[in-house]
Amino acid sequence: MPYLLPHSATINKKLMLVLAFGNLSYLEACTVLGERLSSSKQLWEDIATIELRDTKGGYENLAGVHKVAVAITPNPHARLDDVKEFDDFLQGFDDDFNFSISLYSPETIEETEYEEVLSTLLSVVREAGFRKANLVRPRKGSEVLTREIASRKIIDFIVLKVGEKYWLGATFYVPDSQQFTMRSNERPVVSSQISISSRLAKLLLNLSGVKKGGTILDPFCGSGTILSEALMSGMSCIGVDRDKNRIDNSKQNLEWLAKTRKIPKQSYSLKVGDSTRLEAVMDGVQVDAIVTEPILLPKIAATPSLDKARKLIRNSSRLYSESLYSMAAVVRKGGRIVIVAPSLRTEEGRDVSVLLEDVGAAGLVPFQPTSEPFEYPARMAHENTRWVRRLVYVFERA
Ligand SMILES: C[S@@+](CC[C@H](N)C(=O)[O-])C[C@H]1O[C@@H](n2cnc3c(N)ncnc32)[C@H](O)[C@@H]1O
Repeated sequence: MPYLLPHSATINKKLMLVLAFGNLSYLEACTVLGERLSSSKQLWEDIATIELRDTKGGYENLAGVHKVAVAITPNPHARLDDVKEFDDFLQGFDDDFNFSISLYSPETIEETEYEEVLSTLLSVVREAGFRKANLVRPRKGSEVLTREIASRKIIDFIVLKVGEKYWLGATFYVPDSQQFTMRSNERPVVSSQISISSRLAKLLLNLSGVKKGGTILDPFCGSGTILSEALMSGMSCIGVDRDKNRIDNSKQNLEWLAKTRKIPKQSYSLKVGDSTRLEAVMDGVQVDAIVTEPILLPKIAATPSLDKARKLIRNSSRLYSESLYSMAAVVRKGGRIVIVAPSLRTEEGRDVSVLLEDVGAAGLVPFQPTSEPFEYPARMAHENTRWVRRLVYVFERA
């Protein structure tokens, strides 16, 4: 996928991230960029800013960002029509570029506000001498989407509304999310009821910290979405499920992937087994990390009552606590466990969640990607179901 700006424009170390999965994407960015970060902050649900110590990139591997933008100014400005750095920035471009303005705010953005920002920046661009630059408007709302930016090679200016001020940036990288959609939809067994998306699977693998050549285990592998993305990332993988049909599903999907993407067959193995007893199932084999989603709860037709939610969550909590000990026993020292847990929003508007808190006895500690403590669970934004949400925990084996 393209870098959309000339390289000279991207050497600034302060970046803005438009997050696809909110807090979870922020955790991914902090984990992948880790020690290279000199600062990071999630400004609101879908926006974070980070500062890198170098200009070596690394964001190409992030699955959870919609856009990576370079900050044109180091800080927000009260007015958009006198930003000197913006004039300087524009000098790098040819006469006839396509450009767009995407406005982000933690509050709802009124159409009039977007129009005001748009006309101010349009005047600045014209006054800087770019008569032929072509303004592309969003199809709806105040944001131009990544697919359009990439296909039409648009220079997408980002405006963050921080309090009463505006912070200006320019998108320079958008990931190719279509490859994930293709892999999710084309595989032989698509079971969207239990499956996470390929994109989310890749994000969870990024949280595991495992590199090419390492081995991950998914002890609740279902139809093998996490395993497939592990293979795509050059890892080896082991899948366990107690249901033989699911193991057959995974087998079909991985065979298809191996054939269509030329992955060596010996990179994966699948076993029928009970993951509350992994030591026996794995027979002494240890892995670099575990990445898994044990339960997404049975399908329910309507928002549950508090009583019903508590009952559902209590039932699944048991499986989580039993299997966490078992997982800790088969992950190597220093290896991570990335685990998705469900949370239910009740008709009373309360959240009832599987909470994984007392894990010290299992020899696990919460993984911290930076010196700033990250507060678990990471919450995933923009879910398509209204009452089941995903929470994510990352533990490290002490
Ligand atoms: C939510 S699905 C996993 C979906 C998977 N991430 C995917 O994308 O296809 C959970 C799986 O856990 C399996 N499972 C439930 N309890 C188990 C246990 N005790 N041991 C092993 N597998 C179990 C179920 O058979 C089911 O396939």
